[in-house]
Amino acid sequence: MTLAALRGRFGSLADAPATFLLAGARVIDPSDGTDEVRDLAVVAGRIADPRRLPDGAPRVDATGLLAVPGFCDLHTHLREPGGEGAETVASGARAAAHGGFTTICAMPNTTPPLDDARAVAKVSGAGRVAAARVRVIGSVTAGRDGTVLADLAALREAGVIAVSDDGATVADGEVARLAFERCADLGLLLVEHCEDPLLADGGVMRSGATATRLGLRGWAPEAELAVVRRDLELAADTGARLHLTHLSCAASLDAIRAARARGVDVTCDVTPHHLSLTDAWVDGGRRFAWEAPGDIDASLAYDGHCRVNPPLPARDDALALLAGLADGTVDAIATDHAPHGPQRKLVPFDEAAPGLVGLETALSLGLAAVAAGMVALPVLIGALSTSPARIVGEERALGTGATADLAVIDPAATWTVAADRLASRSANTPLIGRELPGVVRLTVADGRVTWNDGLLPLR
Ligand code: DOR
Repeated sequence: MTLAALRGRFGSLADAPATFLLAGARVIDPSDGTDEVRDLAVVAGRIADPRRLPDGAPRVDATGLLAVPGFCDLHTHLREPGGEGAETVASGARAAAHGGFTTICAMPNTTPPLDDARAVAKVSGAGRVAAARVRVIGSVTAGRDGTVLADLAALREAGVIAVSDDGATVADGEVARLAFERCADLGLLLVEHCEDPLLADGGVMRSGATATRLGLRGWAPEAELAVVRRDLELAADTGARLHLTHLSCAASLDAIRAARARGVDVTCDVTPHHLSLTDAWVDGGRRFAWEAPGDIDASLAYDGHCRVNPPLPARDDALALLAGLADGTVDAIATDHAPHGPQRKLVPFDEAAPGLVGLETALSLGLAAVAAGMVALPVLIGALSTSPARIVGEERALGTGATADLAVIDPAATWTVAADRLASRSANTPLIGRELPGVVRLTVADGRVTWNDGLLPLR
């Protein structure tokens, strides 16, 4: 199935609400602990009593399929405005629907950045007719240059769900304190990219034996930990709501555990790639973190597709992140979907733009971790759906009367990642060519079918 064929199967939030019945699905709803095989009906966009299904409505045999709440991505780069060659609101939303996501939170590091109400309104407007809800994160500082706060009150008024200078830390301590105080006053969530620029010092991968052997400059976990610690103190002092995004090392989770024990209000996420890939991938290794390290393929070393920020972790850190997901320290899995065209990736490693696309492979990497026994399936589903949704104030539930917002997954099916199987405009991922478990057969956002892999009759 190529992208051209896929396109006909996307819908949008502007479509008419859906009506159908899934017979015998395994319904997993982390909002109330449901995990049972039952019929699930959607009537006019709402979860309904199956006996209320109108005559003639589609009835689908969902034996062996999972029905779960729609996923919510707290960290998505949509590249609009300024980078439309790599992604747009429309294409990123299609990638989201294809991956089971019904909400994506657009990061503001566009060109120009989303630092005022007009810029926010444009992205939100494009999102209204897209294949996923698009929530906007505004920038903390004007122009995202780290020196002067943006008009955070105006951003809140424009409907942003959080502020962040993602791509960079709010590095200046004075500016950071002002930002925390202002966010506390306004009740705004502050999402921090944790990377002390002085400690990271231009590193392009995680420091360690692999970086040394490859002759690449590395940055150490301490560069992340320094910002995590500073922000936990600022959150404790100011009472601002803090969310630490794309964490990459065990020490960060330990700092969060300690802060929570002191009553600090903080949430955090990790990405699918930091849970499953390791710094050995930069060296040409291609084993998942939970697999015993194996041979490396030297021809795959220095692949710019493995450059990401924060860098792919040491194996021990990846295993600690998985343990943190399993024990609830990690609230959410966020993709950090970061599309880049080949001109920014097929270049020498230390010149490659950091980031990889993630919306369409997130579930599959999670299911691979479940299959390896690293995390329970309901925990994975909660970290992709109900938990991040709660952080941005959205409802997710599969009980009668709720708005239908869900994904239907075939966990036994596999697919091979390929550029023409991705709805994203970009295909920058080292997973190209890899067979992964789990296919999203149907996505319903706000009662509308946004992705239909032939499960329902095609219009
Ligand atoms: O790898 C990354 N890519 N990390 C970031 O923080 C920014 C992102 C991007 O915008 O490409």
